[in-house]
Amino acid sequence: MLATDLAQEILQLKKERRAILLAHHYQEPEIQELADAIGDSLELARKAREFEGEVIAFCGVWFMAETAKILNPDRIVVVPDREAGCSLVDACPVEELRAFKRRHPEYAIVAYVNTSAEVKAEADILCTSRNAVAVVNSIPPERPILFVPDRNLGLYVKRVTGRENMKVWQGACIVHATFTARRLAQAKQEHPEALVAAHPESPPETLAMADFIGSTSAIIKWCVDHPGQEFIVVTESGVLYSLQRLAPHKRFYFIQNELCNCSECPFMKKNTLEKLRDCLLRLEPRVELPEDVMKRALVPLERMLAIR
Ligand code: 13P
Ligand code: SF4
Repeated sequence: MLATDLAQEILQLKKERRAILLAHHYQEPEIQELADAIGDSLELARKAREFEGEVIAFCGVWFMAETAKILNPDRIVVVPDREAGCSLVDACPVEELRAFKRRHPEYAIVAYVNTSAEVKAEADILCTSRNAVAVVNSIPPERPILFVPDRNLGLYVKRVTGRENMKVWQGACIVHATFTARRLAQAKQEHPEALVAAHPESPPETLAMADFIGSTSAIIKWCVDHPGQEFIVVTESGVLYSLQRLAPHKRFYFIQNELCNCSECPFMKKNTLEKLRDCLLRLEPRVELPEDVMKRALVPLERMLAIR
């Protein structure tokens, strides 16, 4: 079947199902083209609760779809591929977090949204890469903090906030953690005029070489608004879709990580148009979560969303 026929089929199914299609910036361009909203994880969480309809088809990774479900317990949330996971989620098993809480009940738990629903349910407040600094600053300075699970984002937030009483979990994003300073130095040599925009999941030595650090959408906005014409973008190459659309005259270079010699997230790229069509057709794979987990996870999620 031609991609255009498939796209028509998806749009028709979307109408019949009264579905909204949300896509993260790391999705393939043909999926982003069909989406009702494209965004970073914070924007998509906000979008997930501001729509009329019965079904959310979430094109991103599983933890993002879980967040949408927690905000919409009465709606159906489906994903193209159940195997679209995240190395950060795997790095923080809920039993280990519970054990930490038993040993250190005085700590406030700040959980990055890249965690399971069970871990979210154990947190005091959630954050995304966009609001992590504001979230940490919202916690009384005398209260010690455990930041889970991304080490690089945690260290970045610790540096920006100057928060000494903050422990950082040792998880990592398999994609961003291997955007090494060595690879970035190489790219800077090849493109000496280019400015560098980096995602805070990248290593501290890489971030130290960046002109701008921010979430996926913040990187796009900064590159588009900046008078510069050339940018080295230290994140997943799916952002090129929006960058080219919003600033077609500018040049963007991606660095290849040490994992795959590419700049792609293997989890995000599991989703395809065929799988999207099938999930709208069958309403499977579907996010189902225990009611008590959703209720408990909603509390720190709402606290995060209240921070502007
Ligand atoms: P954003 O919050 O920038 O969307 O990042 C999510 C993510 O998974 C980055 O790897
Ligand atoms: Fe997870 Fe990294 Fe993929 Fe983002 S890019 S979904 S943090 S593995």
